[in-house]
Amino acid sequence: MSTEQTLREAATNRDFRIGAALAARALRSDPSYWKAARNEFNAVTPENALKMGPLRPSPHTYDFTDADAIVDFGRENDMYVRGHTLVWHNQKPEWFQAWDYTDDQLRKFLRDHIHTVVGRYRSSIDAWDVVNEAVADDGTLRETVWYDALGEEYLDLAFQWAREVNPEADLYYNDYGADAINEKSDAIYDLLERLLERDVPIDGVGLQFHALAGRPDPESVAENIRRFQDLGLDVQITEMDVANAVDDQPEDPLAEQADYYREIVEVCLETDCDTLVTWGVHDGSTWLRNFKDFSKRYTDDPLLFDDGYEPKPAYDAVKGALSGTDRS
Ligand code: G3I
Repeated sequence: MSTEQTLREAATNRDFRIGAALAARALRSDPSYWKAARNEFNAVTPENALKMGPLRPSPHTYDFTDADAIVDFGRENDMYVRGHTLVWHNQKPEWFQAWDYTDDQLRKFLRDHIHTVVGRYRSSIDAWDVVNEAVADDGTLRETVWYDALGEEYLDLAFQWAREVNPEADLYYNDYGADAINEKSDAIYDLLERLLERDVPIDGVGLQFHALAGRPDPESVAENIRRFQDLGLDVQITEMDVANAVDDQPEDPLAEQADYYREIVEVCLETDCDTLVTWGVHDGSTWLRNFKDFSKRYTDDPLLFDDGYEPKPAYDAVKGALSGTDRS
């Protein structure tokens, strides 16, 4: 039996959370997936199961089966559980059409949703992505159903409703493309500053970190993390994966991927950003294989384990950075 420590052990020894997004179906059907998730990670995020669409098969019913399976798995295995996500413009239920509701009804709808879902997991979810991707790529507030009905105040309300039901959970704003200092992270910074000025109960910001083609500059990532921390917010990396444009790949993609993961873990350690969740357990479960035409645009091996659950160079790099044995 190998005595070498797992990634989970390396992270736990360092008071660091290394996580993976999970799917209930794979947990139930694939023992290797279950084992890798349990042995190698100390944090989990349901990849889809807690979103409004999967949770709500019809206007007056909820189906918590998949979400419960993942949250229970996390709790039973002593993991940190991130809830993703309460308010988003995507993955809404198919039956949900904004024009069926007045603005007041939408407000009530959202309040009921947040109260029900946060309430169910009051003692089992540690942190919530309360609002996901509210800022558009040009830095303006995204025109979603919630924004159209309630204006910017929908963010205030969402955080307040979540806090009302679970005063213990940490509440995050989560977004992509804002990992380093850029126009979008500037806009998110301004937004969160406004929320804090209005005493909205927000605890942190999640940087998704889908490095699909570009590689946000590590120094700029560190600067970005620090400026949010200076606002009094916690910062977590919530959905990391590292791919390449299919038509623009480095000479040694696995080595380059490993180096980049290591650099970002080192940024986390330097900045006291203590949580990094990868968006899947192994390459066989990456969203890039099943999402729109992404599999044609990006390479589909962005995670720490390969299709056969063998640890990749990126796994060794992350573990090495966490255990202090790999500082190259
Ligand atoms: O489960 C259904 C299945 O019942 C149905 O038959 C099939 C037909 O299309 O779809 C399946 O649902 C898919 C679901 O993933 C589960 O595989 C949806 O179509 C598909 O759109 C959905 O994609 C998810 C995507 O969010 C939706 O926007 C990805 O898995 C998920 O990884 C991705 O995650 C997002 C984060 O929530 C937010 N940040 C970006 C990140 C990547 O896009």
